Amino acid sequence: MSPFQLTRTLPEDATGAALRDDVLHGLTRTPKELPPKWFYDARGSELFEEITRLPEYYPTRAEREILIARAPAIAAATGARTLVELGSGSSEKTRHLLDALPQLHSYVPVDVSESALTGAAGALLEERPGLHIHALIADFTRGLVLPGTPGPRLVVFLGGTIGNLLPAERARFLGSVRTLLGPGDALLLGTDLVKSEEVLVRAYDDAAGVTAEFNRNVLRVLARELGAEVDPADFEHVARWDREREWIEMRLRARSALTVRIPELGLAVPFARGEEMRTEVSAKFRQEGVRKELAEAGLELSAWWTDTEGRFALSLATVIT
Ligand code: AVJ
Repeated sequence: MSPFQLTRTLPEDATGAALRDDVLHGLTRTPKELPPKWFYDARGSELFEEITRLPEYYPTRAEREILIARAPAIAAATGARTLVELGSGSSEKTRHLLDALPQLHSYVPVDVSESALTGAAGALLEERPGLHIHALIADFTRGLVLPGTPGPRLVVFLGGTIGNLLPAERARFLGSVRTLLGPGDALLLGTDLVKSEEVLVRAYDDAAGVTAEFNRNVLRVLARELGAEVDPADFEHVARWDREREWIEMRLRARSALTVRIPELGLAVPFARGEEMRTEVSAKFRQEGVRKELAEAGLELSAWWTDTEGRFALSLATVIT
């Protein structure tokens, strides 16, 4: 049997249907909004990679520092034989974990992008021949069925991406992760932490304007995928810190009164001059909040590791018995 298997749990056209739904719903409500998952076409994924190398964008480097320092502790605490990675993308960060887990039998990367999955699996197999790779094309926010690989299982969700979910979505997500875990299994969760407004806003509004281009990229996605008549240059990038909800909000602000037409959806969406549309929430966390959200999902925080500057955290959680 080939050590690489690919399972599709999403219909081929699921992405198109979901995009239509989100656009129809998001552009006809007040205030307008679009979910952040639509940033990530090929160009958006490249822009995100560029963001991770910006001097202002610290989360990727901070998380990598923790992974490198703590991979042996994570391996010892979990003894994982199956590593499940939600939103695996290029599986780049995972290498640090894989290297610390010599006893690992199976790697289960889960992503909506088939090309990301096959690319990452091919590269990994060259380094770790014999590792069983069971890639899943799936939307992990909707509940998953995992292959019957040996335990203990370690489910990892890195990058702080949980912060892109709203609180109710996070509760549902953690609840569905809980159903994947049995006694002896664990969740490793990456969360960006609350810090000064200045540092946070700079990380989402960099001097080189890469995040602005990343934000406007969602409009290019609408133009290409749905035939939307929209000029990204008509919108300005906005990044704001919401101190009550402790999240960064990215928005696109119309530079003038304009109309976005999407004939395919029968839509003509008017924007007032200065009107803002929310495109992303990126929540920042504190240890007590993470502990509470995990507990509400039936999970117990068993380890909390931060980088030396205390900017980012990795949490290890186990099932409450
Ligand atoms: C790493 C996907 C969680 O919220 O920081 C980067 C994406 N958005 N700059 C984040 C992002 C704007 C991001 N995630």
